[in-house]
Amino acid sequence: MGYKSLCFGFSCILFAYFLYSPIPENIEEPWKVRYLDATVKVVSYMATLFENIGLMKYEKLFSTSSVFYITQAVSDENVTVIDTYFSNIPVRLYVPKRKPERKRPAVIYIHGGMFLFGSCKIKAYDNMNRLTSNKLGAVVLGINYRLAPKYPFPAALDDCVSVTKFFLQDKVLAKYRVDPTRICIMGDSSGGTLAATVTQLLRNDPEFRNRIKAQALIYPGLQMIDTFLPSHREYAHGPILIREVMLKLLSLYVANDSSLIQASLRNEHMPEESRHLFKFVNWSDFLPEKYKKNHVYTAPVLGKLNASYPALVDSRLFPLLVNDSQLQNLPLTYIVTCEHDLLRDDGLIYITRLRNVGVQVIHDHIEEGVHGAISFTTGSVVLQLGFKIRSRYIRWLEENL
Ligand SMILES: *[C@@H]1O[C@H](CO)[C@@H](O)[C@H](O)[C@H]1NC(C)=O
Ligand SMILES: *[C@@H]1O[C@H](CO)[C@@H](O)[C@H](O)[C@H]1NC(C)=O
Ligand SMILES: *[C@@H]1O[C@H](CO)[C@@H](O)[C@H](O)[C@H]1NC(C)=O
Ligand SMILES: *[C@@H]1O[C@H](CO)[C@@H](O)[C@H](O)[C@H]1NC(C)=O
Ligand SMILES: *[C@@H]1O[C@H](CO)[C@@H](O)[C@H](O)[C@H]1NC(C)=O
Repeated sequence: MGYKSLCFGFSCILFAYFLYSPIPENIEEPWKVRYLDATVKVVSYMATLFENIGLMKYEKLFSTSSVFYITQAVSDENVTVIDTYFSNIPVRLYVPKRKPERKRPAVIYIHGGMFLFGSCKIKAYDNMNRLTSNKLGAVVLGINYRLAPKYPFPAALDDCVSVTKFFLQDKVLAKYRVDPTRICIMGDSSGGTLAATVTQLLRNDPEFRNRIKAQALIYPGLQMIDTFLPSHREYAHGPILIREVMLKLLSLYVANDSSLIQASLRNEHMPEESRHLFKFVNWSDFLPEKYKKNHVYTAPVLGKLNASYPALVDSRLFPLLVNDSQLQNLPLTYIVTCEHDLLRDDGLIYITRLRNVGVQVIHDHIEEGVHGAISFTTGSVVLQLGFKIRSRYIRWLEENL
């Protein structure tokens, strides 16, 4: 008991300290953003403490916290909600109740959570998918792929690909009255990473090429081979997404090895044989001038790690690692980037590369935006920004799918 009180007291002091850390000026609802930012920082501190005293692994505290927000599959007057399995992988389906006049569009939804935590059943995502289903008369399919560190790369991707291919079969689409020419793949944050890769793999597969009409990527992470992009430098300490926390957690998807984490923090984690990949993420070439500011390009240091992680050079790990000929088949793309987000430049670089090869991209840049906002649309602290991003995304679907 004394130990628990001590932890509680310590968390409160840390929380008060972080609550007063400075945040960018044009952020809306600054105290709510400060509150969320301070919460992430306290969780990270406590997770480090618990790991050091041998109580639990660092990532465990993050995954435990997200479980509280999971909802049951509850149908409402407009939408039937079903938890089932596609290809042995748990999915949640949203099927509109009203009889369609013509075949329905569909959205395949891949949730965020750094490949380590989260679920499509989390309340904020459940609300978003329900709303999408109702507003568009669409079938929405949420995928609960396997999570790291228990299931490292490529488990999450394999699950998303299997579910998507299962759903895209003629007989399954017919069962839910889905129009095969009106299907979008959507993901937020690391779900955006997976959505972008699934889209690449399917659009380069003759069997599925015509089955994906569009992709929607909400503040996606698209690479971690260069961890010093200008946005990584400017927003290393948040708000909300913190460089150290992100690299610690993301590394666990690649390999269960702390030397990879330490090296990625120094931007010295890539092997010598990855040199050819850096031209695909060179911010000096792809970032619009406005975002370069006074930053000076420094190439990452290669070949410092003795261990080699084959996943790091695998283009299925990060969608920015493919060449231009693999990008040119991609469908209509909607990308949301937020100004005050560590992952901002990942999105901006992808937009430039896609446009360079003639892919049609609709870019929604949110000047006052912070990372993860659509996850903060329920619960005790709700961001108006989350509703704004959600409704802009749904409006885009209404107009384009
Ligand atoms: C059902 O749809 C109507 C019309 O879009 C909406 O007003 C109502 O709030 C919806 N009900 C629920 C439970 O979402
Ligand atoms: C990761 O490695 C640590 C020790 O190096 C081990 O205790 C843990 O079980 C491993 N986790 C997984 C998921 O393999
Ligand atoms: C990145 O671009 C800059 C400027 O165009 C160039 O000097 C540098 O060599 C490039 N680095 C790589 C690894 O492509
Ligand atoms: C890597 O190899 C070098 C030289 O072979 C050695 O000095 C160093 O201790 C090794 N580092 C690790 C982390 O194993
Ligand atoms: C692009 O990558 C694909 C797959 O790795 C490869 O088959 C193709 O030859 C590459 N194209 C170019 C122009 O490098």
